[in-house]
Amino acid sequence: MKLFLDSAKTDEISRALELWDVDGLTTNPKHVQASGKSFRVAIEEIAELFKGTDKPVSVEVNPHITDWKQMVSEGLELSKISPNFVIKIGASEAGFKAIRELTAQGVRCNATLIFSVAQAWHAARAGAAFISPFLGWKEQHGDSASSFILEVRTMLENFGYESEIIAAAIRNASQIGNASVDGAHCITAGMAVYEDSFRNPYTNMGEKIFQDAWDATPQS
Ligand code: E4P
Repeated sequence: MKLFLDSAKTDEISRALELWDVDGLTTNPKHVQASGKSFRVAIEEIAELFKGTDKPVSVEVNPHITDWKQMVSEGLELSKISPNFVIKIGASEAGFKAIRELTAQGVRCNATLIFSVAQAWHAARAGAAFISPFLGWKEQHGDSASSFILEVRTMLENFGYESEIIAAAIRNASQIGNASVDGAHCITAGMAVYEDSFRNPYTNMGEKIFQDAWDATPQS
């Protein structure tokens, strides 16, 4: 399962590239806002960080656009900035049409804001390179997301679609583990979620036990 960072902050991204060799990046308008930079500056700086790699970087079109032709035109413009850019488009009738058109023109797309298997199927039919089911948002609003990734994966395999699932809006290590078991091709989460996932209280407890044993043992 590929590890994508969900962020638009260049300091976080540089750190994650260096320490974790992240496989790619996802951004969204919230992340760009949190970077404190203009959209253009933020995505150009991000493009620079990934230059010369084959790592995908998802960049979202203006979410106000409802016309598929405008989505295509903006997607084409964005894709000229960096060969790493994957155009992120929200699930909708117009969005799926735009994904179909961009894909036909050789531009990879990430269908975002996916909350049902039906939406994932529309995205796969349209040729989306990536499909992003949002687990955290579903659970936050009382829906169960426990079988969502497995269902989307089963749908893709039933028909031989080549789209990759990005398990998105991940909030904890348990969701990371479940997504990997359920067959997500990629996962995207914020820096803090990954940092938590490295740790476990039992590991700390074990380290203390071993340190105490080490200290009580003559070393020569
Ligand atoms: C995924 O690509 C999204 O950017 C992301 O996971 C959205 O959720 P969040 O920002 O609430 O985590």
